[in-house]
Amino acid sequence: MGFLSSSLRVRARFRRCKRAWADHIENTRRAVLEAAGQCPRRRRAAVLGAGLLHDIPLAELSSLFEEVILVDIVHPWLSRVKANRFRNVSQISADITGVMEELYRVAPLTGQVLPISHPALFTDDPRLDLTVSVNLLSQLPDVPGEYLHGLRSEPTVAAFQKQLVEAHLDYLARLPGHTALITDIGVRRMIHDEPTLEEWDPLHGAQLPPAERTWQWRLAPSPEIRRGVDLYTTVAAYTDWKKALGGWLRQR
Ligand SMILES: C[S@@+](CC[C@H](N)C(=O)[O-])C[C@H]1O[C@@H](n2cnc3c(N)ncnc32)[C@H](O)[C@@H]1O
Repeated sequence: MGFLSSSLRVRARFRRCKRAWADHIENTRRAVLEAAGQCPRRRRAAVLGAGLLHDIPLAELSSLFEEVILVDIVHPWLSRVKANRFRNVSQISADITGVMEELYRVAPLTGQVLPISHPALFTDDPRLDLTVSVNLLSQLPDVPGEYLHGLRSEPTVAAFQKQLVEAHLDYLARLPGHTALITDIGVRRMIHDEPTLEEWDPLHGAQLPPAERTWQWRLAPSPEIRRGVDLYTTVAAYTDWKKALGGWLRQR
């Protein structure tokens, strides 16, 4: 469906934009460790969206937890090499939405409804003490959105993408143990010398509680996309997702 090429694009962009990404990487790593620090027990930790491991404090997690499981739909070989350095770190190749295979199969067939995501990985794991979802949420609808383009109507694609995002937020609330979420929440494209600012919602309308902390990620500063164009995104961190969600729902 394009997950591998998407991962390769992230790796290439990371190499070109390393300096611009430095603050974001540092802020993400700090938020992951803050979440780890809030866990009363430290048996198993799961990192969702571990991918290229740029933003994961792997050595620290490995020493804090008995076991660390890195989850991603694609684990590039360099991540495998890095993970193999730690005896208590393993990798699982899994689709965290649980519906990508079915989507791949049914989307081209007319008359077939698209699947509904209800992730189940680890939900019955009694040893899971921490799950961190790391810069993954906005990526969940991305590749399937491209795949569906031209196969289904725009409103159907938009509704499917939003459901993927909402299902992940609900999943983080259902998992056992402590959960944390780090995600970008708003993208801006700025064209130099032009007053207009283009903004869009990478979460397709899914609502989030007020963030504990936010920062700017200089995702693609000029000339990464085109000379004179900057792409920035706002990232939100919730080091205790269940608490943030619970407090927000009570107020609504
Ligand atoms: C922006 S990257 C996260 C940053 C990553 N930790 C790094 O260091 O580069 C998003 C990750 O989400 C993964 N991903 C996207 N959709 C997924 C899915 N359905 N299931 C599991 N992983 C997925 C991608 O493969 C990618 O590694």
